[in-house]
Formats: sequence, structure tokens, C-alpha cells
Amino acid sequence: MKSGVVLISGRGSNMRSIVEARTGLDVKAVVSNRPDAPGLAWARSQGLPAIALDHKAHATREAFDAELAAAIERLAPDLVLLAGFMRILTPEFIARFPRRILNIHPSLLPAFPGLHTHRRALEAGVKLHGCTVHLVTPELDSGPIVAQAAVPVLRGDTEETLAARVLQAEHQVYPQVVRWFLEDRVEFLDGDIVQIR
Ligand code: GRF
Repeated sequence: MKSGVVLISGRGSNMRSIVEARTGLDVKAVVSNRPDAPGLAWARSQGLPAIALDHKAHATREAFDAELAAAIERLAPDLVLLAGFMRILTPEFIARFPRRILNIHPSLLPAFPGLHTHRRALEAGVKLHGCTVHLVTPELDSGPIVAQAAVPVLRGDTEETLAARVLQAEHQVYPQVVRWFLEDRVEFLDGDIVQIR
């Protein structure tokens, strides 16, 4: 059985979609850098080990990441799933879990890396928007793409309506990617291109 640790910072709806999809992933723990994250309370209510690791209690990014990495290594997961984890990870952290850290980003990368993706998509006038699950590399939002889901941008959309449509797609695509990893269907080609067998 393959295992995972899910990192969150807030609501945790993607974490919840992964847990509720019953993919067969053994969720070793849900970890939040914000002790008051609603997702952490939900994880606890499900009987999942829920760990709060407050980044504000650490003097530097390096110190926080070192403690986070140590906590994860103790659990020895096959996958580290970032699900609304709102912290940039140091290259040292990322190097400790090669090709094992996944993130979900609310845009069709490489379009709109970073924050406020829905607002920027509306401002750009794109007609398709969506989400991307990718492997995490030191450069922000630019690791190998594993899967994407597109949604239309509709007349009259606001940041909120568009975000809600993308979120629905996120809740489909992230559990699907987890399943592919569990089934050993994720293959790396030259140049770190990912292909699903
Ligand atoms: C999602 O839109 C995700 O793509 C982004 O942050 C949001 C987190 O939402 N990285 P949730 O905490 O999973 O509900």
C-alpha cells in the first residue's frame, strides 16, 4: 500500500477530495503550517493524524522547512501532496523528496503561475481556464505537469464563480493523479515530461 502526507494551509477541500475519493492511499498525516486551518479540524474529525506546525514559531524559512521535512521523513510517505499549502518550499526541502512532491495549482500552467490566478485569467480574457497537478521543483509552479483539467470562462463570470468552477475540476483531477501514482502509471520521459501509462 502506498502512503502520503498531505500539506495544507486553510480550507483543505482538495485534501478532503483525496480522502473522500477512497483511492487506497494510506494518508499518514495531514500537516498544516496554520494551526487554525479548518482543514486540520476536518482531518481530526475523520480520525486522521493532524499535525500543526506553525511557521511563525520558526525564525527562518530554512528552520521551518527542516522541521517539516523531519516530521514527514519520520512518516516515510511515498507521496507528499501539497493541497492549498501556501508556502514556498526551499530547494533543500524539495531535494529530500525527489519526484515525490505534488502540487495543485489553479490555472492551466504555464499560464498564470503565482497568486490571483482567476482574476488574472479574467483580465487576460482567456476562454479556457483550469487547474494543473504538477511535480514540485525549486522553481515556483513550473515542475513537470502530470494532469490538467480545463473549464470554460463564461460570460458574466466573476473571480468567485470562476474559482468555484475550477475548484470542482480540482476535486476530480487531484484524486485521479493519486490513483495513477498508486497504480504505478506515471512515467518520466526525457526532459522530465510525464506520461501516463
Ligand atoms: C486551491 O484552489 C488550490 O488549487 C490552491 O489553493 C486552493 C486551496 O483550496 N493551491 P483548498 O484548501 O484545497 O480548499
